[in-house]
Amino acid sequence: MIARSFAFVGVLYATYSAFGQTPPTNLPPATPGVFSAQSSIIIDGPIETVWSALLDFPAYPNWNPFVRWVHSLHRILLEALTDQTPHENLRLIIAAQIPPLPTPVDASTPPNLLHAQLSFENITAVDTAQHRVAWKEIMIPAPLLSAERWQALSVVNGNQTFYEAREVFGGPVGYVVDALFAQGLQAGFDAQAEALKELVER
Ligand SMILES: *[C@@H]1O[C@H](CO)[C@@H](O)[C@H](O)[C@H]1NC(C)=O
Ligand SMILES: *[C@@H]1O[C@H](CO)[C@@H](O)[C@H](O)[C@H]1NC(C)=O
Repeated sequence: MIARSFAFVGVLYATYSAFGQTPPTNLPPATPGVFSAQSSIIIDGPIETVWSALLDFPAYPNWNPFVRWVHSLHRILLEALTDQTPHENLRLIIAAQIPPLPTPVDASTPPNLLHAQLSFENITAVDTAQHRVAWKEIMIPAPLLSAERWQALSVVNGNQTFYEAREVFGGPVGYVVDALFAQGLQAGFDAQAEALKELVER
């Protein structure tokens, strides 16, 4: 029981805090908002391997318990013009499970329809040099809801990768999202970080 509590506290420290051993962040400064979901994890693998996995949207169904699939709008409307490479100003439709599915998942894992959420997003950054990617919610207009999800990688301990994800939710609808989804979103961020680590270290 005590051991379990300590493990839990350890996970909290590792996940949320800027305490001693947490590597320096590679995320841009956070914008103010109503609440945020964030997670980080150290992955035993080279940064380029993690970066490729993060941008390989077609492979998400094989491993990601939170973001089940990502399609660019082109892919849905104009199958022939499919450009699989994420780039700035690309519109995405994202199907998420909030809270996330139990792990592990693969492409045949059925969705929990009660927890399925679709969102319409715009890629706002793909910075290959800095290993940062971001997309922003554009379904609900910005004065009502702002939500930009940043993910960043950095090299730690010579040959490991520090993965970080953060999304700040702002605007009046941010309070609604907070009340309805904050816990599930946090669980999703944590589950994706764990699953990405599993995927790369497997
Ligand atoms: C999408 O993001 C790009 C890059 O930040 C920006 O130039 C563009 O105006 C955005 N488009 C929409 C519809 O939000
Ligand atoms: C990664 O780092 C560890 C610890 O320094 C070392 O033992 C290992 O050989 C390194 N692996 C590679 C592939 O460089």
